[in-house]
Amino acid sequence: MLDPVSWKSSGGRIFRSYTPALAGQGGRLRLIDQTLLPEQLQYIELADTEAIFDAIRRLAVRGAPAIGCAAALGLAAVVRPVKFNNSAELLAFAEKTAARLADSRPTAVNLSWALDRSLREIRNNITASPAELQNILLKTALDILAEDIQMCRSIGLHGKPLLRDGMGILTHCNAGALATGDYGTALAPVYVAHETGLKIKVYSDETRPLLQGSRLTAWELNRAGVEVVTICDNMVAQVMKEGKIDLVIVGADRIAANGDAANKIGTYGVAVLAQYHHIPFYVAAPYSTFDLNLADGSGIPIEQRRADEIATGFGRRTAPESVTFYNPAFDVTPHELITGIITEKGLIRPPFAPQIAKIFSQAAV
Ligand code: MRU
Repeated sequence: MLDPVSWKSSGGRIFRSYTPALAGQGGRLRLIDQTLLPEQLQYIELADTEAIFDAIRRLAVRGAPAIGCAAALGLAAVVRPVKFNNSAELLAFAEKTAARLADSRPTAVNLSWALDRSLREIRNNITASPAELQNILLKTALDILAEDIQMCRSIGLHGKPLLRDGMGILTHCNAGALATGDYGTALAPVYVAHETGLKIKVYSDETRPLLQGSRLTAWELNRAGVEVVTICDNMVAQVMKEGKIDLVIVGADRIAANGDAANKIGTYGVAVLAQYHHIPFYVAAPYSTFDLNLADGSGIPIEQRRADEIATGFGRRTAPESVTFYNPAFDVTPHELITGIITEKGLIRPPFAPQIAKIFSQAAV
């Protein structure tokens, strides 16, 4: 199931299709297994709860918007082939499935956002037949994916004016095409700039321990023809000091009401370094990444991952057996360090708390 052709033009899509025909009336979620990149571009097809849970948990699909899309499509795929006696039975089954999928990763709010939206559609149409509800669930998931694709384009257009010909842009982890339905968040302005002929050089932090920056960001930018330079995480200060970085753009997994933003571990350090070197630091994220239930970033749950990701991450032991490890997968960048948040509706500038409150009171989200 290799499909390199689809990656030729822009970033490419991680969800090649939701293919109901492949599993009779069941339908399957089809996506790139990102754990195999950059060596292999291989798609997997999933249609049962534990397989989808496992794919999200082990980062076969990852990145906040992408796991939201995967969960919604996955829920639709799991519910679709089951025979229900009535709609209440379907709702109970969908709630149980959604609760399990939501448990796969705690930090990215897009996951529960997408599942909640799917369940809400069932509840709002509970008088419909089970077959109709199965269609509604699939349509909702496909809408979420379609909106995600549109969102990427809009973030790209709103972020592009920040970029100038010849700029060096630093990014951390992967917030590109592999992390979304289409074009990325942090990388969307880069892709738009590239399409309009600007020469941009992207510095891609390696992003220990799972190397999303070197395995994924460098891979997709390279395939799209964007110049990319991969550096180890501990080189950022030096590269900034050498004047190579004009702008930092990163993604986010959850943004609190005051603008504090959780993203891949290491982002906070990059923001501190950017401030020291007077380099603008932008976060790019859709409205679905905001969690207005949280006043500030202190309430954002930080995923803790297994020690072996650090101890044997390079396929061999890199530390003695007897030592202990600490492996938080995310950190929270305080809003004071953020120059602006690029969303699908435009740029949010400080002071963030009143600006965020204003746009969300106006938006039908
Ligand atoms: O652990 P990951 O690879 O899912 O972490 C991903 C990130 O931190 C991304 O920067 C974030 O989800 C934004 S994706 C558009």
